[in-house]
Amino acid sequence: MSAHGKPIKMQARKSAGLSGEAHVPGDKSISHRSLIFGAMAIGQTRIKGLLEGQDVLDTAKAMASFGARVTRIADGEWHVDGVGVGGFAEPDHVIDCGNSGTGVRLIMGAMATTPIAATFTGDASLNKRPMARVTDPLALFGAQSFGRSGGRLPMTIIGAETPVPVRYKLPVPSAQVKSAVLLAGLNVRGQTVVIEEEATRDHTERMLAGFGATITSEQTDEGRVITLEGQPELRPQDITVPRDPSSAAFPICAALITEGSDVLVPNIGLNPTRAGLFETLIEMGADLTYENIRDEGGEPMADIRARFSPDLKGIEVPPERAASMIDEYPILSVVAANATGATVMRGVKELRVKESDRIDAMTTGLRANGVEVEDGPDWWIVQGRGAGGVQGGAICATHLDHRIAMSFLCLGLSTKEPVQIDDGGPITTSFPIFIDLMRGLGATLGEVDV
Ligand code: S3P
Repeated sequence: MSAHGKPIKMQARKSAGLSGEAHVPGDKSISHRSLIFGAMAIGQTRIKGLLEGQDVLDTAKAMASFGARVTRIADGEWHVDGVGVGGFAEPDHVIDCGNSGTGVRLIMGAMATTPIAATFTGDASLNKRPMARVTDPLALFGAQSFGRSGGRLPMTIIGAETPVPVRYKLPVPSAQVKSAVLLAGLNVRGQTVVIEEEATRDHTERMLAGFGATITSEQTDEGRVITLEGQPELRPQDITVPRDPSSAAFPICAALITEGSDVLVPNIGLNPTRAGLFETLIEMGADLTYENIRDEGGEPMADIRARFSPDLKGIEVPPERAASMIDEYPILSVVAANATGATVMRGVKELRVKESDRIDAMTTGLRANGVEVEDGPDWWIVQGRGAGGVQGGAICATHLDHRIAMSFLCLGLSTKEPVQIDDGGPITTSFPIFIDLMRGLGATLGEVDV
């Protein structure tokens, strides 16, 4: 079943070279944060380039339920009139976060130190995902949670009446958990400290500083220690959301494996906590170049050019790079299938608890299309079949996971036989223009019968 309707069967088949410019949508992580932080500031935050994918629209709706005024002005242009730190009102209905782990976990953090109750739910995928990783640290602040067995949604959170500051070492490398703790810390007098052994995406730290919070990060023997001073008055911001490197990954990787391709993907953020895939592709021998490198809003940015790369080699991806490319392993495995030799991916247990078990979903689908894959609890190895060497011909299950759906469609652009997916509906959660954008580059893909 699709996230918001009946399943939409899709197919991709061998395409002539992809060419042109791919203007991908706004960054999903920064879009969620712009709305949530805007709702916690006093005054009007103006956002341009917001990703209007279903995940982010669900967060916009949630912020309105907590009392912020959220207005869509034009395409990608939104205003949020915030209620201030500690100013959330109690929602009078259940908050449905759809497919979005980022949405629900950050919002739970944001409301956990205000004395209100809120009940959260999501779609079949989100309601299977672990929430104890967030409710455990929120309990240290004094928040209570009542969910289904195994810490699953639907779940009610009762925010702490008199919250206490927390020092918390992340047991899993997760920017969502880090952000939930920091957002809870906003409405607590004193310092909230989060320690992460592996650096995860740092948009929360950068953006909270932009909104006027006092927040510092320091590398120590324990890891990265992030310290937030509680009860700041957040000042509204004008935000231009950069384009999403995780979405850029799809046209880029499709170009690398499709003969004759030359694609330019402009304005992509190269924040080091997000750019691990590009580093990995270059190590594999991809013809990928950064053009027009510049700095925008304190973040490195470039236009990325990707050309067909017939001589890709399998590599061992350094496990310490995992956090900086965690959403990109599904599409990396598609590139790996078109390389020669083995691509070894270790230290990626987190892939098992994303929108789907991504190791299982990709392993099953790649095998069905004639690729040899081995996997274990926190690793997998793809045996490449060389450029254009994958047979294809299978129908792949996407398990309500947008990135699995887009990965298999990209695979089908270079396989001998077409590749089908059982449901392309979830693609709209993060990349609503994916099909049109890929077709514009010359890709043969779409609903079955293309
Ligand atoms: C995100 C963090 C990552 C990532 C997700 C977005 C964020 O999740 O997979 O797509 O915006 O903080 P984890 O924090 O669970 O690794």
